[in-house]
Amino acid sequence: MATSRAAVREMLRDERRALWVYDQNPRQHRELFGDSIFSVNGGGHARTRDLLATSLVARNQLRRYAPKVAAICAHHVEAWRGRGVDDLMSATRELTTQICAEVVVGVAESSEREEFHQAIDAFLAAVPVKGRTRWLSARYRRGLRAARTVRRLCARRMESGCSPDTVLGQLVRHAPDERTRRSLPHEILALLVAARETTAALLLWAVVELSLDAEGRQAIRAELADVAESVTLLDRRTCSALYALIDRAAHLHSPNMLALRRLASPLALGGRQLGEGALVAYSPSLGSLNGAQSRHHTAGGSSPPSDCPASSDPGPAADSLAFGYGVRACPGKRLGELIAAALIAAVLPELTPRVEVEDLAFGVSFLPLRVPVRPVRLRLEGNRDEGR
Ligand code: HEM
Repeated sequence: MATSRAAVREMLRDERRALWVYDQNPRQHRELFGDSIFSVNGGGHARTRDLLATSLVARNQLRRYAPKVAAICAHHVEAWRGRGVDDLMSATRELTTQICAEVVVGVAESSEREEFHQAIDAFLAAVPVKGRTRWLSARYRRGLRAARTVRRLCARRMESGCSPDTVLGQLVRHAPDERTRRSLPHEILALLVAARETTAALLLWAVVELSLDAEGRQAIRAELADVAESVTLLDRRTCSALYALIDRAAHLHSPNMLALRRLASPLALGGRQLGEGALVAYSPSLGSLNGAQSRHHTAGGSSPPSDCPASSDPGPAADSLAFGYGVRACPGKRLGELIAAALIAAVLPELTPRVEVEDLAFGVSFLPLRVPVRPVRLRLEGNRDEGR
C-alpha cells in the first residue's frame, strides 16, 4: 500500500503498461455494467476514458451543464430552507440523483423521472452484494432489473435525439462508431455509480465545512456578489475562496477509501521486486488519514467537541489525492466541483448554513464512503446576523 504522495507517484509511474485496475468480481461487474470503463484496461481503457473526459468536462461541455446544475441546486436549497433538513446526506443524495437524471441522462419528463430515481436507487443498492450467492439476494436481482430500466431509458433518449446539454448527448456526439454508441448505456451506469454517492458526500462535507467557517463565508459572499452567471462558477480565479473551501472539503473528507491495482507485469516498487498478479493500492483519502491537526472553527459561538471530524488543517490542496492520481484519476472532477460550487452559490447570498455539530461528534464511517454515522441536521438561516 502506497502511504505517501511520493510512493503513490512511484506506484503509478508506469501505470498504463504495468498496472490493471483490480476487479474482485469481474463476472458480477459485467452483469451490472457490461464492459464499461471500470473493467477495461490498457488501450481499451484509454479510448473509453478519452470519450468520457471529452464529453464530461472539457471546458465547453461544463458550460453546457452549468445552468441546469445551478437551477437544480437552487431548487433544492429553496426546499431545504422551507422545511430544514434532518439528514443532510439523504438530501444531498436526492440532489445528485436529480443531476444524474437531468444532466447526465436527460430524463426530464415527470413520468420517467420517478422510474429513473427508483431504478438508480435499486441499482446502487445492488452493487455491494457480492459473491456466488448474489443470485439468492432479492436486492441483487432488483438491481439487475433496475440496470435494464436505466439502459432502456438511455436507449429511448438516444432514439428520440438527446439534448446536447446532457452528458449522454455529448457521448453520442463524440462516439466514433456504432459499436461504441451501443455501449453507451453501460458507460452511463458506470458514471451513475461513480458520480452519485461521491458527489453527495462531497456536498455534505462542503456544507459542513462552510457552516464551521465564518471567515470563509464572508470571503465567498464577496466573490459571489460579482458572479452573475452560473458559468462563472467554473472560474477558479474569480471564485478562489469558493474553490479553497471545496478543495478543503474534498481533501479532508475524500469519499473514496481505496484504489486497488493488480500488476500486469513484474515491477520494482519501494525497493522490492513484485511479481505479476501482486496487488498494490493507495488511498485517495491519504490527505485526511495522514491528517492534519485540528483547526476547529466555532459554529454558533460554541466549539465543536474535540473528536469532531470536521475542519482540520487542509494542508496544501495541491497535495490532495481526493480525485485520484494517474491514468485513472477522476474524469468527473470538474463536474463534481461545479455541483459543489453551485450548491454553495445557491446558499450563501441570502442564507447561512447551521449544522448541529454534536451530530458529527459520533464519528464517521469509511465504507463504502466517508460519511457521518449519524444523520446530520442542517438549518438554513437568514444571513443578516453575519454583518451583510
Ligand atoms: C465529486 C466527488 C468525486 C470524487 C471525490 C471522486 C473520486 C474519484 C477517484 C478517487 C477516482 C479514482 C479511483 C482510482 O484511482 O481507481 C475516481 C474515478 C472515476 N470517477 Fe470520480 N469522483 C467524484 C465525482 C465524479 C463524477 C461527478 C463523475 C462523473 C459524472 C465521476 C466519474 C468517475 C469515473 C468514470 C472514474 C473512473 C475513471 C477511470 O477508471 O479511468 N466521478 N473518482
